[in-house]
Amino acid sequence: MKTARIIGTGSYLPERVMPNSELETMVDTSDEWIVARTGIKQRHVAARDEFTSDLAEHASRRAIQAAGIQPTDLDLIIVATTTPDLVFPSVACLLQNRLGIHTACPAFDIQAVCAGFVYAMDVVHRFFQTSGCRRALVVGAETFTRILDWTDRNTCILFGDGAGAVVLEASDEPGIISTHLHADGKYHELLNVSSGVSSNYSQVLRGEAYTQMQGSEVFKWAVKALGDIVDETMEHNGMQKSDIDWLVPHQANIRIIAATAKKLNMSMDQVIVTVDRHSNTSAASIPMAFDEGVRDGRIKRGDTIVMEGFGGGFAWGSALLRY
Ligand code: UT7
Repeated sequence: MKTARIIGTGSYLPERVMPNSELETMVDTSDEWIVARTGIKQRHVAARDEFTSDLAEHASRRAIQAAGIQPTDLDLIIVATTTPDLVFPSVACLLQNRLGIHTACPAFDIQAVCAGFVYAMDVVHRFFQTSGCRRALVVGAETFTRILDWTDRNTCILFGDGAGAVVLEASDEPGIISTHLHADGKYHELLNVSSGVSSNYSQVLRGEAYTQMQGSEVFKWAVKALGDIVDETMEHNGMQKSDIDWLVPHQANIRIIAATAKKLNMSMDQVIVTVDRHSNTSAASIPMAFDEGVRDGRIKRGDTIVMEGFGGGFAWGSALLRY
């Protein structure tokens, strides 16, 4: 059976950088508080006329170039996003058109908020195993700042915009080894945007569809769920923690990341951290961190990697892969 092996990575951050000092002028907060509680020093914010599909296109072109293929070589496109350009069509279809792919390959979005990228890795893993898929593009892309209330210090300090992408190819060598997904909708009220198309649409029309979160509750659940999922990933594969070279976590909070690294007995030198510069970019954070680790030479061919993410839903998951 073929595995899905990553052959190219790319990422894109919008030009505008918003440092914590700018937030100090907007809400009752401080750079010291934000850095101490989250590790975040700045975030990137998309321009008004820059959409999720734009970010996704930049990241995808970089990943396709790194893979040394043509866009038309792709036979599957999956975009993980919670902030699509439109209600429909999907960002994946818009991206397919932008990339000039008119081969009728399937293209669709996945919505699992901050777990979106690991959910997409699970789906692409199954496509390679069951459908004869040869080359796939998997993207995490968000304009999350569009659903922030810039007067709410509980949330507006945490999130940013960006996109990351990977190209995967069918291979006889190990690529994605296993994926592990979970969700529990019981906790939907702890982290959500409480309006959408079929409910509270008037809030959307007023431009007030904002993220709300009970941060400390979410924090506790994230630490527990991510600790459990790394155990599940190791046990499922009969692996020792020492077999893992890199942790590429969702970038929500440096304290959550450190807790998961500790659970894996990993030093922070084995963790790709971008939360300080990118903040939490939801589905985009894992592929952006992965791209950074690959491009700066830390992640090398043959390395074994755990990706993990946790977010609204709650939805969470992991992917174990060999690069
Ligand atoms: O990616 C999706 C999943 N999301 C997450 O994983 C985020 C999880 N949660 C967190 O990362 C953390 O809970 C936060 C960073 C959001 C908050 O950190 P915390 O250590 O849990 O703080 P807290 O919510 O318990 O608040 C502590 C204090 C409160 O004041 P009092 O009640 O002690 O007087 C808050 O009102 O900090 C106050 N506070 C702030 N102070 C300055 C809350 N936000 C801010 C702020 N600046 N931005």
